[in-house]
Amino acid sequence: MIRVVALVSGRGSNLNAIRGGIDEGTIDARIVGVVADRNAPALELAAERGTPTKCVPLRKGDDRDAWNLSLADAVAGFDPDLVVLAGFMRIVAPSFVARFPRRIVNVHPSLLPSFPGARAPAQALKAGVRVSGCTVHLVDEGVDTGTILAQGVVPVRTGDTADTLHARIQTIEHRLLPAVVRAIAAGTLDLDTAQWSDDSQSVLAAP
Ligand code: GRF
Repeated sequence: MIRVVALVSGRGSNLNAIRGGIDEGTIDARIVGVVADRNAPALELAAERGTPTKCVPLRKGDDRDAWNLSLADAVAGFDPDLVVLAGFMRIVAPSFVARFPRRIVNVHPSLLPSFPGARAPAQALKAGVRVSGCTVHLVDEGVDTGTILAQGVVPVRTGDTADTLHARIQTIEHRLLPAVVRAIAAGTLDLDTAQWSDDSQSVLAAP
């Protein structure tokens, strides 16, 4: 059983998807802590479920280095095997990444390396791509640049807005992120090499 700490800023639907897999017994993991940078709905949900939570807010004018140190201390306090950025809306510093080498994964709503950074679904629409999706990747020192572990694909449909496309991408995120956590816990995805024992599991497509 691996110990998972999730970092959240929003509603936490990805965290819930992981929890669903744990509850039904398909993911051999325990969510030992949920850490947020704000009073996020995901934090309240976690607390309601009895999961230990911690909020490390970043306020205007705060020292970023000090915040990253507090954030890393909060996460390390839960002694994680895996740190999941599940809708965490801050960029973590290299000092944070160095505390959990090759043990931090992020889910991003585009097929990286296209459209890193903010508002990825809107970027995809503007570029006129016909498929989009999500990427689960290792977090390195760049923004959405770490080694890709798995991707899920969805079509872009006529009349899509950034919101409708993002909602479709989220449906595949909710399958892909739990699949990645499941594989890490089962040892079929090795984070040190980023290799899957069965490569076909690293790709999902919308039905
Ligand atoms: C997801 O779309 C994820 O790709 C992005 O933030 C969103 C978080 O959604 N990084 P939720 O809080 O898990 O519902």
